Amino acid sequence: MAKSDKTAVRETFSSGLAVFFATLGSAVGLGNIWKFPYLTGEYGGGAFLFIYLLCILFVGIPIMIGEFYIGRKTRQNPVGAYKQLSPDSYWKINGFMGVIAAYLIMFFYSCVAGWVYFYFFKALIGDFSSITMATAKAEFGSVVIGPFAPLFWQFFVLTVVAAILIKGVEKGIERITKTLMPVLFLLIIICDIRALTLPGAGEGLNFLFHVDFSKLTSVAILTALGLAFFKLSLGMGTMLTYGSYFTKDNNLFGTASKVALSDTIVSMLAGIAIFPTVFSFGMEPSAGPGLLFMTIPLVFSQMPLGSILLVAFFFLTSIAATTAMISIVEVVTAYFVEERKMNRTKAVVINSLVIAVVGVLATLSADKDSLLGGMTFFGKGFFDWFDYLSSNVLLPVGGLLIALFIGHVTKKQDLKEELSNQGTLAIDFIFEAFYFIIRYVTPILLIIVFLNAIGIIKV
Ligand code: PFF
Repeated sequence: MAKSDKTAVRETFSSGLAVFFATLGSAVGLGNIWKFPYLTGEYGGGAFLFIYLLCILFVGIPIMIGEFYIGRKTRQNPVGAYKQLSPDSYWKINGFMGVIAAYLIMFFYSCVAGWVYFYFFKALIGDFSSITMATAKAEFGSVVIGPFAPLFWQFFVLTVVAAILIKGVEKGIERITKTLMPVLFLLIIICDIRALTLPGAGEGLNFLFHVDFSKLTSVAILTALGLAFFKLSLGMGTMLTYGSYFTKDNNLFGTASKVALSDTIVSMLAGIAIFPTVFSFGMEPSAGPGLLFMTIPLVFSQMPLGSILLVAFFFLTSIAATTAMISIVEVVTAYFVEERKMNRTKAVVINSLVIAVVGVLATLSADKDSLLGGMTFFGKGFFDWFDYLSSNVLLPVGGLLIALFIGHVTKKQDLKEELSNQGTLAIDFIFEAFYFIIRYVTPILLIIVFLNAIGIIKV
């Protein structure tokens, strides 16, 4: 993972399994448990899910393989990688865009992670023992509006992330992700079983899986695409940076497909836990960012061992959010350490401070009743702008540039050599399919979604 010291020989993950779990640690986070369910709820359920899955298959997986290729071939941060592969060109701008996207994401991600840490703390002290639907809503409202508690937890989160990054995340993250990811998986399955046995659960499943294209809007399509990028940590050089720590014998096709599949399963399982609960308790599926926080305490209420399971759930979600944030801040850190020759500790501290200062704007505008909730520009407050600009603009544009770079700038022979691990893997068929998709299908799909989103074409 991260280099613990800039002069060290670039480190690699210790094994294929470590590569898989660390990469999954970046992908799995608030995106699965918080964002995926609430966006699916907001944009109508099954049809949104269907478009999302198409985006994962034809855009997400190919771009992830492309990022792995660039990272492992160059063993550099995103800016350095483009400089090496295409010297004296403008491609390095794509690396810079990734650094900017990393900041934007961190501004609001650290805020939501703060809510999760806070919920963990509340669960620990037994705050949810007599929760009802009405109190679940009120509780979330007061947590978000704060203003002191959410700011305190946001800073706390950033301190934890900075401390881990300064220490060098090599062994720590490998170990954390390897043991805790499977436990998180298990806990979500327990949530699912509980949610599915609630009265009226079928309605929730129907909402999630019934595909009705008449509900699909161009905003929904762009959002599904943006979510695919956000989910798989793509389009901003995170997977490129992680790829630079991969071992030479790792099968990049295999890792990308396994990570994408596992990540999608976690999102679906989260959806299966949340929507039956929403319908069973008569809530609105389109309740927005509070969906997770209002439903999960209810899922575990009146259930044997419910309060312990709730603590475990928010603990593991905090860990998932933390490993994802580490991968985001690592992009910025690797850039400052390698390109700006900054000492690692200094890079982490300065960047965390910048994120903390600007992140305040996200936290104070997360709800319409927040302190800065009334301050909107073109209908969106800071929180929403940070999210929109990163997920729906910078990541997909960054992804398009990566697809063009791989499909039209990189030599096919070089690509095949690296992806087949210097000819040791038999990948002829899958390579040709991948090459065709990233050269034509991915960019064309991305361009259609952009043109559709800005209203130039109507799909
Ligand atoms: N994939 C993470 C999630 O779904 O929570 C978020 C994320 C991590 C986005 C890393 C972007 C990134 F570079």
